[in-house]
Amino acid sequence: MNTASGFDSRIFGFGMPRLVMGTGARNQLAEHAQAFGQRACVVSDPGVAAQPQFHELLQSLQAAGLQVTTYTEVLPDPPLRIVEDCAQVARTCEADLIVGVGGGSALDVAKIAAVLKQHEVPIESMFGTDQTPGRGIPTILLPTTAGTGSEVTPIAVLSDEAHDLKRGIVSDDLLADYALVDPELCLTLPPAPTAYTGMDTLTHAIEAYTNKFAVPLIDAFALEAVRLVATCLSRAVHHGDDRDARYGMSLASLLGGLCLKSVNTAAVHALAYPLGGRFHVPHGVANSLLLPHVMRFNAPVAADRYATIGEVMGSTDCVAAVEALSADVGTDKRMREFGVEQQHISEMATAAMEVQRLLKNNPREVTLPDAQAIYEQAW
Ligand SMILES: [Fe+2]
Repeated sequence: MNTASGFDSRIFGFGMPRLVMGTGARNQLAEHAQAFGQRACVVSDPGVAAQPQFHELLQSLQAAGLQVTTYTEVLPDPPLRIVEDCAQVARTCEADLIVGVGGGSALDVAKIAAVLKQHEVPIESMFGTDQTPGRGIPTILLPTTAGTGSEVTPIAVLSDEAHDLKRGIVSDDLLADYALVDPELCLTLPPAPTAYTGMDTLTHAIEAYTNKFAVPLIDAFALEAVRLVATCLSRAVHHGDDRDARYGMSLASLLGGLCLKSVNTAAVHALAYPLGGRFHVPHGVANSLLLPHVMRFNAPVAADRYATIGEVMGSTDCVAAVEALSADVGTDKRMREFGVEQQHISEMATAAMEVQRLLKNNPREVTLPDAQAIYEQAW
């Protein structure tokens, strides 16, 4: 973590898709799609595919002369076979581009399917960092949650069902060609997913700002994301038609996503992996129920940064502020509510220790007994 008083000499990279953000940004889909070819494969999940706005997007592509094929079977925490099926659909229709419309799962599937359309390699060969064979066909991503920030990240997370694990693929080859962020696409998102995806955004921002490898540019994104979540999440959950709150959360999600390439997350996300992979706890809920406990664990080494987060959230105690927000939006859960038995904690801690890709970012080293203790507190 760089010091509060200045800038260290760390070199970092930053990259993002071409971005169009604002109310009505979705109306630019056909124009940008046309530039990539004539055959579009549109990837989504069954819930989003049932929405009128999804059909309007398809119609806009068809009206612009594109041939449109849909794959709308994406599941939460998508298993590998979903990605394979989607890639096969893209190959069969000889797609020139892939359009992802949905939450993080649909966007992640779209990103990987685009690579697989171009390069026929086993998905397993891409797990980890920089293991992709190259860029795929062009992608345009439109998020309908706020969110994972997947529309601007070089990351996809899939469920490896054979091993009961969530596993990540990280590569600049996954960066979309366009991210079209239109807050109106979130207006019909129900309160529960609004809450837990919003807490995911908060976790991205806090884990980036308190990261062992924090850098000044990303600090600015992270703190603004925290401020926006503190200001807008409760309103977006309790008044879903509050356009100002939806805009604020879409922006927060985008900023949180921009934290992930250069800095990324840390212990909360690492400990959340076994909760998602084995017990299918939604990603945002898993983060939300772990976040205050990991924050308390990190507090002894992150006092200055926590004070700043508290200031931004309007509190002298940022952990209490996070807990109050989580209670307000209904994500203040415990692991036991999701079928986790206390006896599972030891093997979950062992599984979490495998996620060194993220644990290495934590401001305080997490040992196996530490991971067990954090799970016990969250249980
Ligand atoms: Fe996340």
